Amino acid sequence: MASSLILSSLLLFLVSVSQAQQSFRPKALVLPVTKDASTLQYLTQLNQRTPLVAINLVVDVGGQFLWVDCDQGYVSSSYLPARCGSAQCSLAKSTSCGDCNSAPRPGCNNNTCGLLPDNTVTNTATSGELTQDVVSIQSTDGKNPGRVVTVPRFLFTCAPTFLLEGLASGVVGMAGLGRTRIALPSQFAAAFSFHRKFAICLTSSTTSKGVIFFGGGPYVMLPNIDISSSLIYTPLILNPVSTASAFSQGEASTEYFIGVKSIKINEKAVSLNSTLLSIDNSGVGGTKISTVNPYTVMESSIYKAVTEAFIQEASSMGITRVAAVAPFGVCFSSKNISSTRVGPAVPTIDLVLQNQSTFWRIFGANSMVQVSNDVLCLGIVNGGSNPRTSIVIGGHQLEDNLLQFDLATSRLGFSSSLLFRQTTCSNFNFTSNA
Ligand SMILES: *[C@@H]1O[C@H](CO)[C@@H](O)[C@H](O)[C@H]1NC(C)=O
Ligand SMILES: *[C@@H]1O[C@H](CO)[C@@H](O)[C@H](O)[C@H]1NC(C)=O
Ligand SMILES: *[C@@H]1O[C@H](CO)[C@@H](O)[C@H](O)[C@H]1NC(C)=O
Ligand SMILES: *[C@@H]1O[C@H](CO)[C@@H](O)[C@H](O)[C@H]1NC(C)=O
Ligand SMILES: *[C@@H]1O[C@H](CO)[C@@H](O)[C@H](O)[C@H]1NC(C)=O
Repeated sequence: MASSLILSSLLLFLVSVSQAQQSFRPKALVLPVTKDASTLQYLTQLNQRTPLVAINLVVDVGGQFLWVDCDQGYVSSSYLPARCGSAQCSLAKSTSCGDCNSAPRPGCNNNTCGLLPDNTVTNTATSGELTQDVVSIQSTDGKNPGRVVTVPRFLFTCAPTFLLEGLASGVVGMAGLGRTRIALPSQFAAAFSFHRKFAICLTSSTTSKGVIFFGGGPYVMLPNIDISSSLIYTPLILNPVSTASAFSQGEASTEYFIGVKSIKINEKAVSLNSTLLSIDNSGVGGTKISTVNPYTVMESSIYKAVTEAFIQEASSMGITRVAAVAPFGVCFSSKNISSTRVGPAVPTIDLVLQNQSTFWRIFGANSMVQVSNDVLCLGIVNGGSNPRTSIVIGGHQLEDNLLQFDLATSRLGFSSSLLFRQTTCSNFNFTSNA
């Protein structure tokens, strides 16, 4: 009697240990991000399919979802299309449903719902089937990668091979981190019941790795600096009109907008048409964050005002202007520019947010681009006179800054330059301690 009790409690113990292992629930996940030297796109790698393959993807912070080329080399025994009318189709807000007129294969199945995968680099969209497959990814405690976890039915959209045009070589799709239920941050948060937060930290180097965290902090960079504990916060703004290359009426943008109220150069306000800084009823105007634009793009009147103020301040600092080098319009001789911990000593650019004491200060490392040995250009390009979005904060301006997106509270946390804290976005310790 007693021994059978001991035996059954031992069995119970064994059962609960094995369940605990199966149900290990990560608090956060981590992905590496590299910068492609020829396209300046930011790339990540995800393991997908059965058997697992490492796939390279362009990171699109405002993108709607993961899309992948299913026409070439997609082999998987766990591929599972989303049937018309299923919960997956409504989660994805799919409005189309259809058949495929050839032999079934990944990307071509009957009775599946569809979405519009969007190459946001070339602004090309097409239709593709919504589907699911296994994805595996490393968990993290915020300091190192931990054990690998699996999402058995991760939703994504299939695209034809031509949609890859304009993307870095070796890439098979785009990883959208935007504000939808099926973008990577929300799917991972739902799969493991953690906070709907994620952070990106892009590296300026084409030879080392930056990092994306899914989940809340800590976000620790060597030498043991938790960036999540000292962020500045500003509301994320919803643009009510889609900014995708193709969309249906009534869809909101999945991109992240912030409320830039004014711009200062060397702490002096630049006079701007403030109408352009807000988003109007047709979704035009405002300021968004983009990882697919390598440099910040400004509507032409804003570009003109900002560059004129910058040139004037630079000149009063003894910096000499030289001929412009495309795509930039404003370049300087580097001879008279000294260097600081946060890059070349040039005028600071402040994006002033909800109040005068909340601003995103851009220092030389993020404002200037070295185009040759002795020429530095202001890394901002002219977006013409009628762009959809007035200011697009691009990759160069995001590098070595950590940005945390909190989807539940609709809030952006930003670190400003990590160079001040003697670390960079390539200082996450990717050595696994699992
Ligand atoms: C879809 O159904 C049609 C009609 O039953 C069939 O001819 C076709 O092969 C099917 N296609 C796929 C991809 O299953
Ligand atoms: C400011 O921009 C808006 C939107 O483009 C435009 O309608 C208006 O004329 C501009 N105002 C001035 C003073 O240029
Ligand atoms: C700029 O650099 C040149 C050459 O290095 C030097 O002769 C000149 O004095 C410098 N000008 C200023 C204003 O620092
Ligand atoms: C500015 O905004 C921040 C964050 O929203 C807030 O904490 C702070 O009190 C505000 N400061 C002023 C002077 O209004
Ligand atoms: C990186 O993490 C590993 C595993 O925890 C640890 O052994 C190593 O000392 C860390 N590297 C540094 C430079 O702290």
